[in-house]
Amino acid sequence: MLPSSRSRSQPRAGMDYLDTRRKRHFAGKIFTAAFLTVVCIFILKHSPGFSGTSVFSHHEQGVTHVLVTGGAGYIGSHASLRLLKDSYRVTIVDNLSRGNIGAIKILQELFPEPGRLQFIFADLGDAKVVDQIFAQNAFDAVMHFAAVAYVGESTLEPLRYYHNITANTLIILEAMAKHRVKTLIYSSTCATYGEPEKMPITEKTPQNPINPYGKAKKMAEDMILDFSKNANMAVMILRYFNVIGSDPEGRLGEAPRPELREHGRISGACFDAARGIISGLKVKGADYPTQDGTCVRDYIDVTDLVDAHVKALDNARPENVGIYNVGTGKGRSVKEFVEACKKATGVDIKVDYLERRPGDYAEVYSDPSKIYQELNWTAKYTNLEESLKVAWKWQKSHRNGYGTSSS
Ligand SMILES: NC(=O)c1ccc[n+]([C@@H]2O[C@H](COP(=O)([O-])OP(=O)(O)OC[C@H]3O[C@@H](n4cnc5c(N)ncnc54)[C@H](O)[C@@H]3O)[C@@H](O)[C@H]2O)c1
Ligand SMILES: *[C@@H]1O[C@H](CO)[C@@H](O)[C@H](O)[C@H]1NC(C)=O
Ligand SMILES: *[C@@H]1O[C@H](CO)[C@@H](O)[C@H](O)[C@H]1NC(C)=O
Ligand SMILES: *[C@@H]1O[C@H](CO)[C@@H](O)[C@H](O)[C@H]1NC(C)=O
Repeated sequence: MLPSSRSRSQPRAGMDYLDTRRKRHFAGKIFTAAFLTVVCIFILKHSPGFSGTSVFSHHEQGVTHVLVTGGAGYIGSHASLRLLKDSYRVTIVDNLSRGNIGAIKILQELFPEPGRLQFIFADLGDAKVVDQIFAQNAFDAVMHFAAVAYVGESTLEPLRYYHNITANTLIILEAMAKHRVKTLIYSSTCATYGEPEKMPITEKTPQNPINPYGKAKKMAEDMILDFSKNANMAVMILRYFNVIGSDPEGRLGEAPRPELREHGRISGACFDAARGIISGLKVKGADYPTQDGTCVRDYIDVTDLVDAHVKALDNARPENVGIYNVGTGKGRSVKEFVEACKKATGVDIKVDYLERRPGDYAEVYSDPSKIYQELNWTAKYTNLEESLKVAWKWQKSHRNGYGTSSS
């Protein structure tokens, strides 16, 4: 070329020539760097959860990939453990607002092989992010656990409940519709029945929820049912009663946020009393029309509950909706519960009997015959003291929940 032959003959121009070559070289480097950056971002964006593996983005023959929302929480983590043990592929989405990264770490240590478990830190209230998660992952089914779940809190902060239960379920449904994920197992609750006149509660018992928690869950159920009618969906709605217990092998437990203690459930309160974190148990109401005057509830062990989820998933069929109570069918009084807790912990917990708390109903227990007849599921861990012993063992060795593992 002319310029180069000229530059060769003229030293000064030669220097210029060298200079432009350096400039070109520099521009090339910048270009390459920019290009690589774009490629990296592209790869990162297209790798699920930025975890560096893409196994999760393809359907695989013989592998069922389940999206577990709220998988860092109490029930969701136990369900994930069971699914992984049964060779399902699991993606957990949780924003850790109430769950524990410690539970995720334990699951990751148990199932480190690629393509088994993926954790995505995300907020299900963010429709764009949820849509992206569905675009980047090939889910076969969704187990939707994520929620806020304290009756007392729901009466104080109703919007928190309609937002994080009802609205977030709508976002999940929209993503399922758009990305053609057809199977949904939904966590509902006996609180959707409200205060039925007749016990036990069957699936035909009218639903008249009396608090925002129950109402928000009932609304979510209604949306799911309406949507499923024209969408060729396979839907299972499980209405749990009072969940207790933890992994019999002691790998996972129940570790709610300390600030939620005041709204807490009876098992948590019993353990806190046994550990001396609170001075004793305050039982609200001993003059109910029950055998011993205290409220009667149906306590279901979390191991049985997650078994019901797996059976529900296995039996989910397109254009079919299954609604099931998940309970033992046996009511236990608060007094019975406290006695079982004393035996399980070996601590003579102090109990005060106070006035009734508004909004509590005397007796709630399930008729679980439908789920037995249709899914062959029945509760096996029905010894209250045994379930509490298992949970206590984990509590005792995890004084700060998942924060530490020593006592
Ligand atoms: N525990 C019970 O006795 C009981 C009884 C009936 C029904 N249920 C239902 O079971 C499900 C699980 O309950 P749990 O006791 O395991 O509760 P949990 O609080 O331990 O778990 C809920 C999980 O969902 C996550 N989450 C909440 N909002 C989120 C959001 N916007 N984005 C991402 N993650 C979010 C939390 O971080 C938490 O890990 C809930 O739907 C609850 O209503 C529980
Ligand atoms: C989790 O999600 C809730 C909405 O459900 C949001 O208010 C909260 O800020 C989120 N927390 C984190 C850590 O993302
Ligand atoms: C739930 O929704 C409310 C908005 O009503 C928000 O402030 C809150 O952080 C949300 N998340 C949780 C986990 O409660
Ligand atoms: C039902 O479950 C039991 C175990 O709980 C099993 O032994 C039995 O074979 C199952 N029955 C059917 C029809 O699948």
